[in-house]
Amino acid sequence: MKVSRRKFSKGMVLAATGVAVAGRQALAQLKGEHIDTTAKAKHPVPSIQDTETKAERDARLHWFREARFGMFIHWGLYAIPAGRWDGKEVPSTGEWIMNTASIPVADYKALAPQFNPTEFSAERVVSLAKTAGMKYIVITAKHHEGFAMFESKADPFNIVEATPYKKDPIRALASECRKQGIKLGFYYSQDQDWTAPGGAAYKTGDHKPPTYHWDPAQDGSFADYLHKKCIPQLEELLSNYDEAPAILWFDTPTSDMTPELGSEVVKVLNKHPKLIWNNRLGGGYAGDTETPEQFIPPNGYPGKDWESCMTMNDTWGYKSGDNNFKSAETLLRNLIDIASKGGNYLLNIGPKATGEVPQPEVERLEAMGRWLSVNGEAIYGTTPTLFGAEAGEFSKTEKEKDGSPKFVDAWKWRSTTKANEIYIHLFEWPGGSFKLDSVPRTVTGAYLLADGKPLEVKHTGNGVEVALPAKPLDSVATVLVLKTA
Ligand code: GLC
Repeated sequence: MKVSRRKFSKGMVLAATGVAVAGRQALAQLKGEHIDTTAKAKHPVPSIQDTETKAERDARLHWFREARFGMFIHWGLYAIPAGRWDGKEVPSTGEWIMNTASIPVADYKALAPQFNPTEFSAERVVSLAKTAGMKYIVITAKHHEGFAMFESKADPFNIVEATPYKKDPIRALASECRKQGIKLGFYYSQDQDWTAPGGAAYKTGDHKPPTYHWDPAQDGSFADYLHKKCIPQLEELLSNYDEAPAILWFDTPTSDMTPELGSEVVKVLNKHPKLIWNNRLGGGYAGDTETPEQFIPPNGYPGKDWESCMTMNDTWGYKSGDNNFKSAETLLRNLIDIASKGGNYLLNIGPKATGEVPQPEVERLEAMGRWLSVNGEAIYGTTPTLFGAEAGEFSKTEKEKDGSPKFVDAWKWRSTTKANEIYIHLFEWPGGSFKLDSVPRTVTGAYLLADGKPLEVKHTGNGVEVALPAKPLDSVATVLVLKTA
C-alpha cells in the first residue's frame, strides 16, 4: 500500500486507535479496505515471493497453513497508563496512547523507569497459548511508540537498558517456545516510531502535516531512522534468538517507505529464507499474507494466505477500563468461520504492566482450548469449505459504509475439509437429521467427532441426509464428520 502520510490524516486512526473519524484511508486492512500491494514500482530488490517456485512457497508456508490459530501479544510501556493520561480516559486503543494523548517524547520515555513486569512468566504465557490450542505466538517487539521489548544495541530505549526489569522477555519467550514446540514471531512497527527522530506518525487529533508529529524531538529523516534504528533492530531480532522469528509482522506502512527503502529491508529479510512476513511492509511489497484486521472477509482470500487478527475486547494494548470482552462462543465461531475460508486466526492478549495476562483473556483461551482438544482435527491442517453458501450472502439492499453490498452472515453451520473427510461444524442443531442437497464427493460414512458413533447416511441424488441424535454434543459447535472416498 502506498499511501502518503498526508492522505493518512483521516482514516488511519480508525483501526489503530478505535477512534472513529471521518474519511477512510486503509490504515491496516479494515473491513471494506484493501492494502494495495500491486507493486506499481518495480521491486528494486526481488523479495522471496518474487523468486521462489510454488513448491518452495508451499513448503515455506506449510506449517502456517496447518496452524490455523495463533496468539497475538501487544505488550509494552503503554500497559502502564493502561488507557488513562492526566487523569483522563484516552479514547483509543491502549498502544496508541502516546499519539492520541499527544504525550511529549520525554514524558513518554519517563515511563520506562517505572516498567518492572516481575509477574511476567514466559512459561505461563506459552503454556496458555498451548492450552488454548494455539500453534504460534506473535509478540510486539517494538510498537509504534518505539520502545524495544528486547535487548538492543541499536537503541538504548529498550527493556534491558531503560527499565529496572533489565531482562529480555523476548529471549525468555524464544527459549520457552522452543521447549514447548510453538513457533514465535515478532511484530515490528517499521514505519511509525514516535520516539525516534524521523520515525513516521499517522495523524490523530490536531497533529499537523506533513509529519503529524506533536513534539519537535520527533523530527528528522525517515531514511536515517530506518538506517540507524529500524534495520539494525530487525537484524538483531532475526539473528539473536535462535530459530525465532518464524514470522515478522510489519504494520502501518506509509509513503515514507519508498520501494527503494523497502528494498533495503527486503535485503535483510532475504537472508532468512524460511521467514514468513505479512503485507504491511510497504514499498509495494505484497509479502506472504493478507491481514484483515478486526473482521473476517466474507469469502476469505481465495488462493491467498491470510490471517485475521482480532482483539478479545476493543484494545490491542492493555486498558484497565476495557472489559468489553467477546464471549468464548463468539471467539470459537470466529476461529471456525476463518478456518472454513482458509485463513488463520491471530487472537490478541494484552498483558498488564505487571506482566500478568488479564483473567478474562485466560478464561476465554482455556475455553477455546477445551473445544479444540475434542475437535481440533476439524480445524488444524484443514482446507476450506467445498460449499460456501453456508457463510451467508450479500444483501440486495443493505450497503457497507463504502457503498459495497453488505455481507449478511448466516450462523447455522460451517465446513472444513481434509482429503477423506468433510467436517460440518453445526452451530444450530438441525434436529433429527442434517441434509446436503449436493456433495461433490462420495460419502461413505458419518459420525460425530466428539463420540465417534456411526450415524445412518441416506444418499439422496447428489446429496446426503445424516440421522442425528436428539441433542448436540457441544453448546458452541458439534462437529459432524462425513467420511469421503
Ligand atoms: C493497527 C494498529 C496497531 C495494532 C495493529 C494490529 O495497525 O495501528 O496498534 O498493533 O492494528 O493489527
